[in-house]
Amino acid sequence: MNTATANCQRVLITGGAGFIGSHVVRLLVRKYPDAHFVNLDNLTYAGNLANLDDVAHEPNYRFVKADICDYAHIRQIFAEHRITGVIHLAAESHVDRSIADPFIFAKTNVLGTLTLLQAAKEHWKDDMQGKLFYHVSTDEVYGS
Ligand SMILES: NC(=O)c1ccc[n+]([C@@H]2O[C@H](COP(=O)([O-])OP(=O)(O)OC[C@H]3O[C@@H](n4cnc5c(N)ncnc54)[C@H](O)[C@@H]3O)[C@@H](O)[C@H]2O)c1
Repeated sequence: MNTATANCQRVLITGGAGFIGSHVVRLLVRKYPDAHFVNLDNLTYAGNLANLDDVAHEPNYRFVKADICDYAHIRQIFAEHRITGVIHLAAESHVDRSIADPFIFAKTNVLGTLTLLQAAKEHWKDDMQGKLFYHVSTDEVYGS
């Protein structure tokens, strides 16, 4: 993302309270003060907002507690924040837990991703120019 592009962006970062997401949020919020960043996280056992105490009050940062599987809520967030880009990191990511409870993995990682993709497609359908959707995931989702 170059500075000119970034400055007009309104970016939804999912899973921003997690391990990778909190570093991504902090980096982008500080590096692009004229862009807007919405951290969407359901604060599961893996999410910790204390990771982001140092940027919590930045004017270009908002936190929204939401489940990526909740299509109506996700659509509302896209509209309310006029989202122009997505960095999707929210996931069930602990492999041991995928063996103990595979249903929540499939729900979050597959249905949740589909929910975000569909909400983005609907929200951007009249103007796809410059819209970006990055999905950060893992081989359990992508395949080897
Ligand atoms: N950490 C690694 O070494 C690594 C390596 C390869 C790939 N990845 C992938 O990168 C992505 C992020 O990994 P991480 O280590 O930051 O994961 P993490 O488990 O630390 O964070 C995931 C975040 O997603 C949130 N979340 C979970 N379910 C949600 C839901 N239904 N709605 C909204 N938010 C939800 C959690 O609260 C948490 O904050 C994952 O897809 C993971 O598979 C991570």
